[in-house]
Amino acid sequence: MYNYLYIYNYSPHEKDLCEMEFRHIFHQEMTDKYYLTTQDFDYTRSAYIRGKLTIFYQSSSFLELVDFVRQQDYCYYDFKVIYLKNEITHVPYRESIDKCKQIALPIAGSVNMHHPKTVFAITKLKDIWYFGIYENDMCWNKHFDKPYSYSHSLALRDARAVVNIALGLGLSKRIVDPCCGIGTVVLEGLGMGANIVGYDMNRYVAYQARLNLEHYGYDPLLIQKKDMKTIEESYDVCILDIPYGVYSPFTHQQQVELLEKTRELASELVLVSHRLMDKELKTLEYQIKDQAMIQKGSFQRYITHCVQEWEK
Ligand SMILES: C[S@@+](CC[C@H](N)C(=O)[O-])C[C@H]1O[C@@H](n2cnc3c(N)ncnc32)[C@H](O)[C@@H]1O
Repeated sequence: MYNYLYIYNYSPHEKDLCEMEFRHIFHQEMTDKYYLTTQDFDYTRSAYIRGKLTIFYQSSSFLELVDFVRQQDYCYYDFKVIYLKNEITHVPYRESIDKCKQIALPIAGSVNMHHPKTVFAITKLKDIWYFGIYENDMCWNKHFDKPYSYSHSLALRDARAVVNIALGLGLSKRIVDPCCGIGTVVLEGLGMGANIVGYDMNRYVAYQARLNLEHYGYDPLLIQKKDMKTIEESYDVCILDIPYGVYSPFTHQQQVELLEKTRELASELVLVSHRLMDKELKTLEYQIKDQAMIQKGSFQRYITHCVQEWEK
């Protein structure tokens, strides 16, 4: 018996990263866009999850679903019942509407199709009908309009995936983003409730990052102006969006020095880079655990999750 159905939605260029995020949250391979599980997860953390159905009843018989609803003596004001169309099992439109009506009929209270407070949903996947409450708050993009952003900042959806890869299912890990730029990753982490701090050696950039945090009501002091090589604290995971010299030259040797420093910051690293840095990571005795590529036109970014050899 499953308790939850998570419905995924992503663009083709995001597939690789979405699958990597999925592996880190649910510890298995993603097989399609509909994931049935007993695992409860705050779906708003992932930009790729379109909605979550909390399942109250499942059966191969639709009449059993209706019977179940009847027995619950539900009373909801401003509710509606929808059919979740899916790519696995086709239910004709007329039939889906009729089935929604059959589910709605035994529920006392009032229907509100435009501004429902509660959304019940049904769907059929393969031969099984599922009934439950559906949520699809798209609150993950609340930092879209931050006061300061740069063209080379990570896209919001990618930043969110990177944080989820660092965190896994829970929120307990302490994360550091030692080259945080204007704070895209830090903001997304804070938005999920993660324990995350950031540093940037550029005074102006760090100041703007702080203003971004303040704008959304987060503690601006979670971002410090500091050269990452001088950070003394240690964390559980480091997310490094490695500088590659957009506005000022950044040499390969400088990149390697920053990678070297990550070993002191945390035993786990999620590296964001514009070219594969596997060789450098292995030289530093990192073991590569997982990897994804974001390809948009001719533009590529690699996300590499690795742990220090002694950790494996
Ligand atoms: C690729 S950008 C980070 C972008 C960021 N992830 C975002 O989405 O806004 C790299 C940042 O690293 C900073 N940086 C470079 N060397 C650094 C160092 N040694 N310590 C701290 N920050 C550094 C740069 O100022 C730049 O803002």
